[in-house]
Amino acid sequence: MATMTAQETIDDIRQRALAQLDAAATLDEAIAWEREFLGSRGEVTLFLRGLSALPPEERPVAGRGGNALKQELGAAWERRHAELASADLERRLADDAVDVTLPGRPTDLGAAHPVSEMIDELSEIFALLGFQTVFGPEVETAHYNFDQLNIPSEHPARDVWDTIHVDLPGEIVLRTHTSPMQARVMEQTEPPVRVVVPGRVYRYEAQDASHEWMFHQLEGLAVDRNITMADLKGTLAEMARQLFGAERRIRFRCDFFPFVEPGVDFAVDCALCSGKGCRVCKGSGWLEMGGAGMVHPNVLRAVGYDPEVYSGFAFGLGVERLVMMRSGVDDLRAFAGNDLRFLRQFARAA
Ligand code: DAH
Repeated sequence: MATMTAQETIDDIRQRALAQLDAAATLDEAIAWEREFLGSRGEVTLFLRGLSALPPEERPVAGRGGNALKQELGAAWERRHAELASADLERRLADDAVDVTLPGRPTDLGAAHPVSEMIDELSEIFALLGFQTVFGPEVETAHYNFDQLNIPSEHPARDVWDTIHVDLPGEIVLRTHTSPMQARVMEQTEPPVRVVVPGRVYRYEAQDASHEWMFHQLEGLAVDRNITMADLKGTLAEMARQLFGAERRIRFRCDFFPFVEPGVDFAVDCALCSGKGCRVCKGSGWLEMGGAGMVHPNVLRAVGYDPEVYSGFAFGLGVERLVMMRSGVDDLRAFAGNDLRFLRQFARAA
């Protein structure tokens, strides 16, 4: 093959370069093209670098032609690169496009457990009556669970609470009721005291529709000068009215708890039949809510309160029971059963 003149070489490069740039369909191809012709080892660069090897008379023409080619290809590359870059951007935007008309994916929202809701509601009711909500330990000493509540060891009353023991001598227990917080609170404060204590309690019991090894109680305690049984009744009646309607009445019947004297069990008249007797109250007209009474002098003395100066009332109620009474649930086991079909019935719409 005859050697080409400089002009022929320039024409040859231009023709191939422009055709190839036209054919470049992607940004990557265009970038490879730039390297091939205009890069530091590109054809145009090498051509210009080889000028000095040409016969002197050819150098000016070849130099001018080579530089013109370099400029022409550079401009062509800028144009083509810009075209491909904007096409590339368009394509990526189209690929990433979000269809804002698609319906959203619903998130599964949780809801408070019916027992937690009841505890919140009770805390609010009692806050309006001047009671502070406090929490106590679920792993408790026998000292607070029993001794401080006027239940000495060896006393048969201890057997009433079927206790789950944590250690062998029996000094540490899972609290069988929320009452131990009575002494803990009184030891920490001077009267007046007004607290409610919601929380889990544990009993060593066979499970059935009305017994669980774990359930929730809410304890109440008020101690001050001149507190009487009338204050207790008024407080519980107000709670019952807030929960079950303004017409509700409270009934006291004698009962025994070692930490109160006198002690009572208290019931609310059935909201469904207004006390006439129905399926929910099992014909009695009354729904049992819990135990209560005037704080025993021994309990006051044990925390250093003078029973000649101070008196108080205490009460304890089962939280699950309240939900059952209000919502017609008939099996206590449903609350800890983790069945969403049961729990969803209580979930308030968000
Ligand atoms: N702690 C008792 C229980 O679990 C309930 C109770 C009864 C609490 C009478 C009281 C009370 O504060 O005065 O059976």
